[in-house]
This record gives sequence, C-alpha cells and structure tokens, in this order.
Amino acid sequence: MKFWAILPAAGIGRRLGSRTPKQYHSIGGTPVLIHSINRLLEIPEIEHLVVVLHPKDQHWAAFNFKNKRVSTVTGGDERIDSVISGMQFLSEEANASDWVLVHDAVRPCVKQSDIKNLMNQLNESKVGGLLGVPIDNTVKQLGDNNEIEQTVDRGQLWSAFTPQMFRFELLKQALSNAVSANLDLTDEASAIEAMGLKPIIVPGDRSNIKITYDSDLELARYYLLTGDKT
Ligand code: C5P
Repeated sequence: MKFWAILPAAGIGRRLGSRTPKQYHSIGGTPVLIHSINRLLEIPEIEHLVVVLHPKDQHWAAFNFKNKRVSTVTGGDERIDSVISGMQFLSEEANASDWVLVHDAVRPCVKQSDIKNLMNQLNESKVGGLLGVPIDNTVKQLGDNNEIEQTVDRGQLWSAFTPQMFRFELLKQALSNAVSANLDLTDEASAIEAMGLKPIIVPGDRSNIKITYDSDLELARYYLLTGDKT
C-alpha cells in the first residue's frame, strides 16, 4: 500500500485582492507553493506528488523546479475539477487501496509531525480523514442586515484543514458522484460524507493556516521563518 499526494494550486486567489495568486506570493524568497511542496517531499513515504496548475499559469515555469517525485497537470474551474485532474494522473500507478493525500497549495506551514500523525492514525481506517482543529470563537448564525439569528453550540464544531487522506478508489468514486450530483463542495471529505461515510478528524496544529487574506501571509511568514517545521 502506497501514499500519493495532490496539491491543488489552480486557484486564482480572488479574495487576497492582488493579481498574483496567493500560492505564488514569496515568503523568505521562496513561493508559498514551493514551501508547501517541500513540506510534503520531506515525508519519504509519499511516492509521488502531483501539483495541479491553472491552465493559464504564468508563474510555475519560471521556477524551473525539478524533482523526480513531482509532476504537474492542469486543473479546472472548481477545486474538485483540479483534484480530479490530479487523480487522473495518478490512476495509472495507484492501486484502489492506496492512500492519497490532498493538500491545499496555500497551507505551507503544515508540520511534518501532523502529516505523520494523520498517516499513522488512519492507517487501519477503511475511509480516511483529515487534519482539523476545534473552533475556539463563539459562532453566530446571521440573518439579514448582520442580525444574529442564533448562537451555534460550538462544542462539536471543528475547522477542516488539509491534508485530507482517503483510499484512492473511494475518493475517485466520491468525487465522480459529487460531480454527477452537481454538489458544491469545498473539501474532499464532503464528497466522502455525501456517500454516507464518516471521515475521521485527526487534531492538528493551529499553525497550519490557509493563506486567504493579506494578514494570513504575515502570519505564514512568521511561522515559516521563525517556527519549527517538524
Ligand atoms: O480557494 P480555496 O481556498 O478553496 O483554495 C484551496 C486550494 O484549492 C488552493 O490551493 C487553490 O489553488 C486550489 N484550487 C484549485 N483549483 C480551483 C480552485 C482552487 O486547485 N479551481
């Protein structure tokens, strides 16, 4: 049984308010995407990593990044299309029960220990799961005009992080089902859940942030340049 990885990096980063997609912002002279790739390459069990790029990507070629464990493919309009594209690339080599880890290209601060924990703790699972953290803020559900409808009990609420790790054939089936049903999903676990299955959350470190806004870049810079990657 092998481990494979997919890094969807075909987003155009509308929310950061900049022309450069967030995965291509530089931190300490290295693009966010390369930081993310390196964190996964540090895990020797991962056989091969597929980076999914936007069809009109104008940044990747300039890095001249070469590693025999890394390939690139072209993504699609939605994240799910990009992940499916990565799965198609791997399908020649991956077996049904192999594991595939899908990791946001914009989460460069993921720790090695978290990835290893995910792999170890789910090893016996038939379904798989993902890294996550409990929600710490009080959560409000709003109606019109920012008026609070209700306070949601946060006791059982968790934020879903990546990597998300599933059996290859199961994820392939789940994503195909989700496309057929026209489901609007923001992570892979949702596609698995839509099949009536229950992915497991493995508690991770809060530094595994997703770079979405400018302030996230500052925080990522702090974690990457001063933090401990292990
Ligand atoms: O925009 P969002 O936060 O969902 O992006 C999460 C990850 O999915 C990012 O790494 C982004 O580049 C990727 N993505 C993609 N293809 C898309 C949309 C997002 O690979 N069509």
